[in-house]
Amino acid sequence: MSVISTETCAPLAVLGHDVQVPLVSGEKVTYAALDYAASSPALQRVWDDVAAYAPYYGSVHRGAGYLSQLSTDLFEQSRRTVEEFLGLREDDQVVFTRATTDSLNLLAGALPAGTRVFVFETEHHASLLPWRREGVSVSYLRAPRSHADAVAALDEALAGAGDGPKLFCVTGASNVTGELWPVAELAATAHRHGARIVLDAAQLAPHHRVSVRDLDVDWVAFSGHKLYAPFGAGVLAGRSDWLDAAEPYLAGGGATRTVAREVDGSVAVEWNSGPARHEAGSPNVIGAYAIASACRALSEAGFDALEAREQQLIARLKAGLAEIPEVKVLSLFGDDSARVGVLSFVVQGWNSSHFSAALSAEYGIGVRDGLFCAHPLVRTLLGGEDTEPSECGAPEPSLPGERSLNAIRVSFGAGTPDEHLERFLAAVRELVADGAAWTYRSEGGRCVADGRRQ
Ligand SMILES: Cc1ncc(COP(=O)(O)O)c(C=O)c1O
Repeated sequence: MSVISTETCAPLAVLGHDVQVPLVSGEKVTYAALDYAASSPALQRVWDDVAAYAPYYGSVHRGAGYLSQLSTDLFEQSRRTVEEFLGLREDDQVVFTRATTDSLNLLAGALPAGTRVFVFETEHHASLLPWRREGVSVSYLRAPRSHADAVAALDEALAGAGDGPKLFCVTGASNVTGELWPVAELAATAHRHGARIVLDAAQLAPHHRVSVRDLDVDWVAFSGHKLYAPFGAGVLAGRSDWLDAAEPYLAGGGATRTVAREVDGSVAVEWNSGPARHEAGSPNVIGAYAIASACRALSEAGFDALEAREQQLIARLKAGLAEIPEVKVLSLFGDDSARVGVLSFVVQGWNSSHFSAALSAEYGIGVRDGLFCAHPLVRTLLGGEDTEPSECGAPEPSLPGERSLNAIRVSFGAGTPDEHLERFLAAVRELVADGAAWTYRSEGGRCVADGRRQ
């Protein structure tokens, strides 16, 4: 029997915790970073590890010198650390990529011809879109309103899918609502129908232990910059067979075993198998090392304790927002569904861009507004059928009082002090009660304070 600890831990030390930012009033306050779901701050530990290694930096898999050897060892050790962190199976492999988007595009390029892909329309665009390519058919499943609905919808779709390779892609935790998806049940369902499953753990891995073995998923993808390691690397980990049979993701040095001139003047290439096949070019050793450092730091802090603390913060946030009738929290699976520290909401009478701009300009609080690169999901949650395109990351035209077409997202994690959430709740209460103290205008698609008091 596993016993879940309820013992919490202190926030982990992160860079930028004491950064002062200017308010529209001219005063300065400590920045409250509440946009971890976009990019989390670097763990101090990650930064220190990278700084300690930096003087020894050298080329990886090329170079006979001492620092090249050391850097190559460090890169490969980082791979081992990620293998352990993810609880991989014996024959699985870890490919270092640029981030989750890159990882899922890599896998999409490795699908056997004729693969049928199944994906819920509620996914982040990084898991929704990479599969649209020649030789692959994609089925978009309608937004489920419960875990049971999701499992039943997948079961039904796969039952009618016939033979041939099949892949189901799902996110572990929504980047919009923070809600957890029933990954293990979905994996069991997929496997029962002979389909494989890839887990988009971009939002899950920073908050929860992710074990490929325990969840029984075939692949997992995540990003270093959301896991407190913002040095340009990400991970695709899992089964080797499809990856080894596929064309290399990038053609170039490192991916090849031999390259030879043929008698007819052409060039014959034998590609590597294993991670090297998809890691052409000079590897990002600092990025990989930073991810390994974050994996070690999170494991040592202990996910039980990190989660226990995060759940306390979520409970406090939900209770605080529930006291403000004008605030509506968005949810796919119901208000009581389990979630990580990510929560989106709208405020009655407010344009979300205006509200977020006021949180920044008047309170020094950084949240995000928009459709969060999950347009179909946010539109489902907002109940709107608007179909006009919107730039990823760019809010809808946003003048105070306009109807909201987008939402506000607050997200946090292992480095967030309680005080940041208290400041956020106090600011939301004050803005709702009194309105913004300054005036705002639209500039370059964003809502900005224009320096005049109301
Ligand atoms: C659930 C989810 N998947 C994938 C991505 C894409 O991650 P990246 O931008 O690091 O490639 C994100 C980014 O926000 C995300 O939240």
